[in-house]
Amino acid sequence: MTPDEFRAAAHRLVDWIADYREKVYAGQLPVLSAKRPGEIRAALPASPPSTPEPFEAVLRDLDAIILPGCTNWQSPDFFGYFPSNSALAAVLGDFASTGLAQLGLNWQSSPALTELEEVTTDWLRQMLGLPAEFRGVIQGTASEATLVALICARERATGHAAARGGLQSAGASLALYCTAQAHSSVEKAAALAGFGREQVRLIPTDAAYGMQADAFAAAVDEDLGRGVRPCAVVATVGTTGTTAIDPVDDIGRIAASRGVWLHVDGAMGGSAMILPECRRLWAGIEQADSLVVNPHKWLGVSMDCSVYYVRDPQHLVRVMSTNPSYLQTGADAATTSYRDWGVPLGRRMRALKLWFLIREQGVAGLEARLRRDLALARWLAAKVDATAHWVRLAPVPLQTVCVRHEPPGLAGEALDAHTLDWVARINASGRAYLTPAQLDGRWMVRVSLGVERTERIHVEALWRLMRQAAEGPAGDPLAPQPNDQ
Ligand SMILES: Cc1ncc(COP(=O)(O)O)c(C=O)c1O
Repeated sequence: MTPDEFRAAAHRLVDWIADYREKVYAGQLPVLSAKRPGEIRAALPASPPSTPEPFEAVLRDLDAIILPGCTNWQSPDFFGYFPSNSALAAVLGDFASTGLAQLGLNWQSSPALTELEEVTTDWLRQMLGLPAEFRGVIQGTASEATLVALICARERATGHAAARGGLQSAGASLALYCTAQAHSSVEKAAALAGFGREQVRLIPTDAAYGMQADAFAAAVDEDLGRGVRPCAVVATVGTTGTTAIDPVDDIGRIAASRGVWLHVDGAMGGSAMILPECRRLWAGIEQADSLVVNPHKWLGVSMDCSVYYVRDPQHLVRVMSTNPSYLQTGADAATTSYRDWGVPLGRRMRALKLWFLIREQGVAGLEARLRRDLALARWLAAKVDATAHWVRLAPVPLQTVCVRHEPPGLAGEALDAHTLDWVARINASGRAYLTPAQLDGRWMVRVSLGVERTERIHVEALWRLMRQAAEGPAGDPLAPQPNDQ
């Protein structure tokens, strides 16, 4: 493709994306893809074309095959999992990044890539109200960031013995602490970092699903008493299930007094800390050894952009650095080599999409959107609280409302069946998308607000739909067309 051919094709693609977004924002596409497993694959040729195809044909298939197989995360009626906003300014940043095709291996391989990442992660640090000594790096996902955090914790606890001599050099086994509400990536990271899943201690939670700090202290002391080395604690600010908040300040003080690494998982909730009024939720954050915040969730930066902050970058670099001769340059001593800040060697210019978004919105624009979402969540929580047979199952510190419809006489498995039935009918209608999850062993429904285009009318429509689905006859299909907005 020549640059001129690219120009023509790119204009068409940009139009295509703009048209797509218009349709999604207007609620003209089903939120959840109606495709069945294997249907997309069956519509695609099993082997690659042996001769060139016109771009036209690719665009046609994008419309005919790919689009119907997409679940529309940018729909204002998307209330599943968590918001994975991809603001159009961030889309442009990603496009520019791909067009520039930079590869960061060291500073010299792309000075702009390195320095833009330094600047944007520092902008975000300021926006989050984090202390000046915190330094950031963009990772692909929170899962990777947490893995890096646990490896760094392991190395600090073993005096860098595990990296040198493998796990057999670590001496005593290492324990990790979190609650059962922590994201599954914590357990995965524990396995990958050599702790072992059995070394993950699940600390009891309080009525609001936050960690009981006293129980954490007791678990650490019990491990110390039997020769297990307490190594790291993961405190979550905004758990996946209910957006529960672990008490960072108390956990941090206990961790510091016992030499335990504190990693804070703010993958989802961290974005809210751009709002000064929310920062009480992670009071004590300055004690964290490491922290992850995902701008690729609520904030609006297209996936993937997970920012990992550390208080001691020298320790991170010591654990992660490699220095083969072919990567060495005369600028190394005076510059940052982000390959030493995480797992991958090569990196693309992901900071561009964060930079584009912050500049296009301004901090005030981002703050206003998140404040809107917090208010929408409070509105829905109040409706649930005021309506007979609807139960709100957890506090609403952020943008997620956990609910169950509990008709008289239904309990146990019958109640589970009812919950799964009404949410499945909403999802099948294509009019909204919600994800159920288990809490205390029973199914409930998480209403996760915060999609960029979700306004009050969409939440009102959702609440009507929830009531219609749950209070109407079981199994009754809901009309597929959005008719109440
Ligand atoms: C609290 C929390 N931590 C970590 C993750 C994992 O995020 P990622 O997909 O970036 O690995 C999630 C995703 O849902 C999350 O909610």
